[in-house]
Amino acid sequence: MPSFMEPFRIKAVEPIPFPTPGERREALEAAGYNLFRVPARLITIDLLTDSGTSAMSAAQWSALVSGDESYAGARSFERFERVVTELTGFGEVLPVHQGRAAERILLHGLLRPGRLCVANTHFDSTRASVLATGAEAVDLPVPVPAGTVLPFGGNIDLTALEHLLSGPDGGRVACVVLTVTNNANGGQPVSLENAAQTRRLCRRHGVPLLLDASRFAENAYLVGTRSPAHAGATPRELARAMFDLADGCWASLKKDGVANIGGLIALRDPELARRCADQLIETEGFPTYGGLAGRDLDALAQGLLEVTDPAYLRYRAESAGWFAERLERAGLPVVRPAGCHAVYVDAGRLLGHIPPHELPATAFAIELYLAGAVRVTELGTLVFGRPDPAGGPDLPAPSELVRFALPRRVYTSNHLEYAAEVAGEVAAKVSAIRGYRITEQTGALRQFAATLAPLGGTESGHS
Ligand code: F0G
Repeated sequence: MPSFMEPFRIKAVEPIPFPTPGERREALEAAGYNLFRVPARLITIDLLTDSGTSAMSAAQWSALVSGDESYAGARSFERFERVVTELTGFGEVLPVHQGRAAERILLHGLLRPGRLCVANTHFDSTRASVLATGAEAVDLPVPVPAGTVLPFGGNIDLTALEHLLSGPDGGRVACVVLTVTNNANGGQPVSLENAAQTRRLCRRHGVPLLLDASRFAENAYLVGTRSPAHAGATPRELARAMFDLADGCWASLKKDGVANIGGLIALRDPELARRCADQLIETEGFPTYGGLAGRDLDALAQGLLEVTDPAYLRYRAESAGWFAERLERAGLPVVRPAGCHAVYVDAGRLLGHIPPHELPATAFAIELYLAGAVRVTELGTLVFGRPDPAGGPDLPAPSELVRFALPRRVYTSNHLEYAAEVAGEVAAKVSAIRGYRITEQTGALRQFAATLAPLGGTESGHS
């Protein structure tokens, strides 16, 4: 058993489904082999995402009752605003219904065609928002030499950033974004030193520095445990040190808000905040509720207080580390070190016989569902690859990862033990796994709606 334990006891439970192998196969075929299209009532352990899937605390459920549903100037907003300002130091706070609304509103305020948005790595919805403005999204993740394990693998590449900012395209850079933690790059943290250097470069070149702070508390905890210089500081202090370096942030509060819906924009610049508020009124609602119910703001305010609790964050990080170890023992190549919100498995390495355009990470995720109704996300060529404009095979993603995301306070170590066992069964029969081809796809976020078909052999013989 793990040495940590869940720092909560369970007050309300929800039964989980156990679909039969036949039901799983049928569900997958009906879903066009796309796990996003499989109904949740046919999933045993759902590790698709840590977003909006948290279990709320008793204090959050009771906060819901005191929600003020006034259209304008609700007390719920005042509570939310106070908690966010005390946490971040940003004076301008705008609630939105979820992270991508914040991205769309803020990035439309900052970008226009021909400009560049530079990040340690854009999350896929962030990239979609950047591209929708006509600007370009440039990823500059820190290079990780083969065979090395970096404590802060989420960092931005400072040399490349300096080169870009002082080169011929420097004038086109409209903003620099640090995604903390870096979800699209293994959920790895960004160090305070890297953020401080980024700020220095941004200042020198007159470019605003923004945080995608969706997992700010997990990043802060990892800074405290991976960087001896910050070992004595609390997660809340370390989170504040990171916010202090930035000109503003947005966040999906479906992650470290530990609630089921919500997001925010928080800024120092009142003029930019005013422009965002104008946009917010058009598409989200009045700026004191931003597409949320008053009670959601209360649950979020309470969640934002709970999320920096060191005991909670320790459990979060240690359960992820323990799960990574269990997967490794089951024979899976795990991306190390594990972060907090997810464990990533290198399906490209595991399924080396399947080329990227035949979607090895997708094939692995499908097998996990077939083997034990465990649902995970692919972060490989289906999500990050692109159709070849010349009509050839899809342009591959840089890596073929599968993400086992960990909903907050939802699954116990027994549930994760089961998921690791299922993964071990799949790892034991990799050579029998075949790839997939895309039969239908649309839009920039093709992974949500695409349908697929198995390659090589009849469908019934495909397992
Ligand atoms: N930024 C990051 C770093 C994210 O991980 C997400 C969502 C968003 C922005 C968008 O926020 O979903 O509230 O609109 N990530 C989810 C995930 C979907 O599964 O990783 P949203």
